[in-house]
Amino acid sequence: MSTSPMNVVVGVAGGIAAYKACHVVRHFKEAGHQVRVVPTAAALNFVGAATFEALSGNPVSATVFDAVDEVQHVRVGKEADLVVIAPATADLLARMAHGCADDLLTTTLLVATCPVVVAPAMHTEMWEHPATQANVELLRSRGVIVLEPAHGRLTGNDTGPGRLLDPEQIVTLALAANASTSFRRDLEGKRVLITAGGTQEHIDPVRYIGNHSSGRQAYALAELAAQRGAEVSIVAANTEVLPTPAGAVVARVRSARDLQEAVFERAENQDVILMVAAVADVRPAEVAETKLKKGANDAQLQQLTLKENPDILRSLVQARDSGGMKAQPLIVGFAAETGSKERDALDLAREKLKRKGCDLLMFNEVSGDQVFGKLRNRGVLLGSDGSETPVADGTKLEVAGVILDEIAERLRRDS
Ligand code: CTP
Repeated sequence: MSTSPMNVVVGVAGGIAAYKACHVVRHFKEAGHQVRVVPTAAALNFVGAATFEALSGNPVSATVFDAVDEVQHVRVGKEADLVVIAPATADLLARMAHGCADDLLTTTLLVATCPVVVAPAMHTEMWEHPATQANVELLRSRGVIVLEPAHGRLTGNDTGPGRLLDPEQIVTLALAANASTSFRRDLEGKRVLITAGGTQEHIDPVRYIGNHSSGRQAYALAELAAQRGAEVSIVAANTEVLPTPAGAVVARVRSARDLQEAVFERAENQDVILMVAAVADVRPAEVAETKLKKGANDAQLQQLTLKENPDILRSLVQARDSGGMKAQPLIVGFAAETGSKERDALDLAREKLKRKGCDLLMFNEVSGDQVFGKLRNRGVLLGSDGSETPVADGTKLEVAGVILDEIAERLRRDS
């Protein structure tokens, strides 16, 4: 992700979500970028120019007839390194698609040659209308990155797709889009199942055995896969604090056996399954109904009898290879390894790939607390065909981009 300061134009169209543009501006400013807000006249009915001026530290105008001597309608677009429109209404999408230039925002868009990222917000009917969808398709075919809107509560009592993404998500996605080419719509219509988080195996009502995993890498994969056109389902083990990625459906589970059941319920029709979750290898043979007390239950606490959990990844591969699934999903495993004097971590991952039988295995080294809960990742993507693709250090969204590039390429080859 680019960290050098950029000139970011934040375009704001006239919808109720315009107030969230204030947070978009703040996030860009906090990340060290220069921001110029260009609202439409309608947007100024929702948020006043003074607010945008104070937040951005720059003058705000909606029309080409302000500061005419500065030829703003050309200058703002030319100087922009990134244009982000949040929210974009159905009307603005239509005007963009048809090259209208009747205010400062649309003229800026015609002049700008930098990446343009659009976050739509409107009622579901308007989003799903064939006219809007055709405009979105046309804009995407021209390289504009139109983000999928979130699914959720809209103004009034309705819910559905059309809600503006969270401002922080918009900024993260826009910066990632600007830094890479990973926003192609190359997973359009593909069904992708992603497991996330770490399972918890109950000892008693308050204690559990579990694995470290924030779920961030899985959520970044889900976020990006949905933005690349996939239908994404997440089976999430204990990831409550993370916001649901736009366009993804989340099923929540706790233990390895819950996760296994939820995955197998959904596995049948998937094109891709990514087993990102950290699955606890063992669980207590018995779960105590009441909290085990130290004195009274010393023996029970100190000598827990453990049972091995099912190997979900291995059994998915077996089910697929024995013809037990309608689709033939590409199956991807994840291995967080620590090396030792005797064993190289990458070698352990190579062995694991063979043992699990999956098509790809994303290996990362976790010695010294390098990955868990952090915002960055790196590693090597190992293929069952012997391929080894180094994944450079980057944000989890950037790492997700490399993994999804490889997956999209394999799906394309196999189709
Ligand atoms: N996995 C799984 N079921 C398990 C354990 C792991 O499906 N019971 C999956 C994980 O989701 C991950 C991959 O297998 O995609 C590797 O996980 P890891 O914990 O590294 O594998 P283990 O088989 O537990 O190997 P180790 O001996 O290193 O613990």
